[in-house]
Amino acid sequence: TWTPDSFVESTVAKLKEKLGNDKVVLGLSGGVDSTVAAVLLSKAIGNNLYCIFVNNGLLRKNEFENVLEQYEGMGLNVKGVNASARFLKELKGESDPEGKRKIIGRVFIEVFDDEAHLIEDVKWLAQGTIYPDVIESLSATGGPSATIKSHHNVGGLPDFMKLKIVEPLKMLFKDEVRRVGKSLKIDTELLGRHPFPGPGLGIRILGDITAEKVRILQEVDAIFINGLKESGLYDKVWQAGAMLLPVNSVGVMGDERTYEKAVVLRAVESTDGMTADWVNLPYEFLQKTSNKIINSVKGVNRVVYDISSKPPATIEWE
Ligand code: XMP
Repeated sequence: TWTPDSFVESTVAKLKEKLGNDKVVLGLSGGVDSTVAAVLLSKAIGNNLYCIFVNNGLLRKNEFENVLEQYEGMGLNVKGVNASARFLKELKGESDPEGKRKIIGRVFIEVFDDEAHLIEDVKWLAQGTIYPDVIESLSATGGPSATIKSHHNVGGLPDFMKLKIVEPLKMLFKDEVRRVGKSLKIDTELLGRHPFPGPGLGIRILGDITAEKVRILQEVDAIFINGLKESGLYDKVWQAGAMLLPVNSVGVMGDERTYEKAVVLRAVESTDGMTADWVNLPYEFLQKTSNKIINSVKGVNRVVYDISSKPPATIEWE
């Protein structure tokens, strides 16, 4: 019978045998799958595992610093690469959702490839691919590995794509990955994190992306997500986040008329993201959150809650 402990034991043994003294590079995303894959590999080959964590400037507020610190605390051989400015520069003026995804995917690959070249004699590329990603390997929504796959044909293969591939979680479902993570003693908060799209806030800022819009959305998102955690609602929700709309609306502040941004809050229940229902969050929570956002985030004067299910609406707005 399958148990997380026996999976860890046999997988570590197999990885040791397969990888020997070879060097392996892996892209960490802050998500459950890449983290569990990294810890398993690091148990097998220690510092021959080189993890790269790229800040694309579209992560949640303080996410890069916090998660990097957490990774270091777990003893992973990890390098944080802050490429925010490069991503923002390349995204300038692009407002088409697929156009933004392509740019983010391409720049990620360029940054990752540059970093992989700095590791002398690296032989393997490790990925946190799980079983549903294998089935849906052509879909655009399978996390970083899918991002890489969908960019195979952009100007020839980057060198790291020519490495041999190792995917220790390939046969597991999400709940099994979480159980393996638990058996590896990975922090339960990290294991319980909501899914977060690879292009990050880039597809939650509708239209073109600027540093100021990222700042606004990071503030709004942080208030919403921290509020969910403080109210004990975070674990009852499958995924939550905020979108910044490309419209201004009229408001009043004191005796002044304002003309500022509107934001959307979205929280859904789901098992796999293929279908989803909007979550009936308590009015009191929504009221408190809305007040806090409007009172403290400069540039926002209106908050709406998304009550659309998937299908026909998607979880993301782009
Ligand atoms: P949709 O919006 O299609 O989202 O209902 C379903 C799930 O997929 C995530 N998502 C993405 N993940 N790259 C990703 O890595 C993407 O381009 C992407 N688009 C959507 C979304 O957050 C949700 O969990």
